[in-house]
Amino acid sequence: MLLYLTFLFFITNKINAQISTKSYFYGPGLRPQFDLPVRYFFIQAVSENGALINSFKEDNPFSIKFHSGDNSRTFYANKILNLKNGTFLVMFRFFKSYEFLYLQVYLGNEELVQSPYVLNAPIKSPDCNCPIPISQWKSDLTCPNYSFNDTTLDYFPEIQLEGLDKRVFDKFPHASLVHYTIKDNKIYRKTLGRYTDFKMFSDELLLYLSRKLILPDMEFFMNLGDWPQERDKSNPLPIISWCGNKGFYDVILPTYELTRATLQGLHRQELDVLMTYGHVGPQWKDKKKQALFRGRDSRQERLDLVEYRRNDTNRYDIGLTHFFFFKHDENKFGPILSRIGFFDFFTYRYQLCLDGTVAAYRLPYLLSGTSLVFKQDSYYYEHFYRFIHPWIHYVPFTKDFNELDRLLDWAEANENKVDRIIQSSRRIAEDHLFPDKVLCYVTMLFEEYASRLSGKIIVHPDMELVQQSTDVCTICKAPRDEF
Ligand SMILES: *[C@@H]1O[C@H](CO)[C@@H](O)[C@H](O)[C@H]1NC(C)=O
Ligand SMILES: *[C@@H]1O[C@H](CO)[C@@H](O)[C@H](O)[C@H]1NC(C)=O
Ligand SMILES: *[C@@H]1O[C@H](CO)[C@@H](O)[C@H](O)[C@H]1NC(C)=O
Ligand SMILES: *[C@@H]1O[C@H](CO)[C@@H](O)[C@H](O)[C@H]1NC(C)=O
Repeated sequence: MLLYLTFLFFITNKINAQISTKSYFYGPGLRPQFDLPVRYFFIQAVSENGALINSFKEDNPFSIKFHSGDNSRTFYANKILNLKNGTFLVMFRFFKSYEFLYLQVYLGNEELVQSPYVLNAPIKSPDCNCPIPISQWKSDLTCPNYSFNDTTLDYFPEIQLEGLDKRVFDKFPHASLVHYTIKDNKIYRKTLGRYTDFKMFSDELLLYLSRKLILPDMEFFMNLGDWPQERDKSNPLPIISWCGNKGFYDVILPTYELTRATLQGLHRQELDVLMTYGHVGPQWKDKKKQALFRGRDSRQERLDLVEYRRNDTNRYDIGLTHFFFFKHDENKFGPILSRIGFFDFFTYRYQLCLDGTVAAYRLPYLLSGTSLVFKQDSYYYEHFYRFIHPWIHYVPFTKDFNELDRLLDWAEANENKVDRIIQSSRRIAEDHLFPDKVLCYVTMLFEEYASRLSGKIIVHPDMELVQQSTDVCTICKAPRDEF
């Protein structure tokens, strides 16, 4: 036992030999007003003489604790991820609201010099229903200056509401749509179509936003299906959808996959962009030199890829995890492979991204990781595709798999260029896919959309109120009464 303890001490001592309590922390999550479901900041490892440590492969030596000054329990979840370059990503989520909190950051058992750090303003949980003016909210989150020029909103300079519901329902009788009205920051809806369960995603998003900010009054039509609806360029109707296509004119929000992850990180959902950003996996030299693909049989190209390249195991580790759309032929497509945990994707150097029934909603997670993304050309797109470019953020490929072979050979021979592309794609994640950026985008899109409406915004007689099911948030009373 003693020997074991001595050994442990030796290890810990060795690991922490360089890192000191002068390590510091910084980032938006240290501001209580940075009100997100999952907040984040960074810890930078620094040595005793103040030198930046820019390589740290071992486990994470830091831990954090929030407390409110008395002995009451503080309800939060947190995760610290080692980016392995001396920087650590700290994610946390509150399950209750607090007037103020102390944040303690530890290196082993010792507190960092900056600690305790006081979060000296109300800290609102994701459930706290305490909306603030939209301009205040945008400034609290330091939202980017999103403009929607050169998006499909260009087709809708003015949206005349009168009679619009009838025109939409007549034109898309087979779609699953929700007609939402937002009035005085309350949400009302009417569903149309048979498959409307997915309204839980749009409800959840709108309810969250209306707890945090005062939404503009508006009416809109949310398409609950994955496929966009409006093909009619000359006289399009404004349909809001999750996935776009170059031949359609729907207005595109971030996908429900991405918004749900943003809202439910560290709670009901394990996979979100901060997590994939932070699970950096092995260093490049230790990553497997293969291109990885796992997915279902939801598009012919996926089957072709597996059929023609699965035997080339030097370059590829590919297979289908589920057959639903096509008949499983073991000789052609090989055995059904088990899924790989998403964080283990980044033990491979290369990721193949091929559309499924629509765009592959995993792209945000792939881009935020430490592998090189190969993306097949596609007509489908998500809201952030307008910020990414081939050869800058990913490597494009066509249906020609010989070309894919050559591109993989190119990547093996061009490590510096590959590294530059990966760094740029991770910056896309920081700039457009982190939780603050996703919620800014949604909110600003709604704001822009609402500004184009003309006519009276009404709660139609057959609409129902979407209820907030959350606790009253007492801490918001005090500051708001001061206005
Ligand atoms: C570590 O990497 C992250 C992004 O991947 C970057 O923000 C940070 O500055 C890097 N830290 C160091 C010490 O280079
Ligand atoms: C945001 O963009 C608009 C339009 O281009 C511009 O007028 C405004 O000054 C910009 N604001 C910031 C903070 O960059
Ligand atoms: C967007 O388009 C409008 C109208 O064409 C124009 O006035 C505005 O300057 C544009 N904004 C940006 C950021 O390009
Ligand atoms: C791949 O290997 C299997 C088993 O050896 C074989 O049956 C199949 O024809 C091969 N596929 C291709 C495309 O070469």
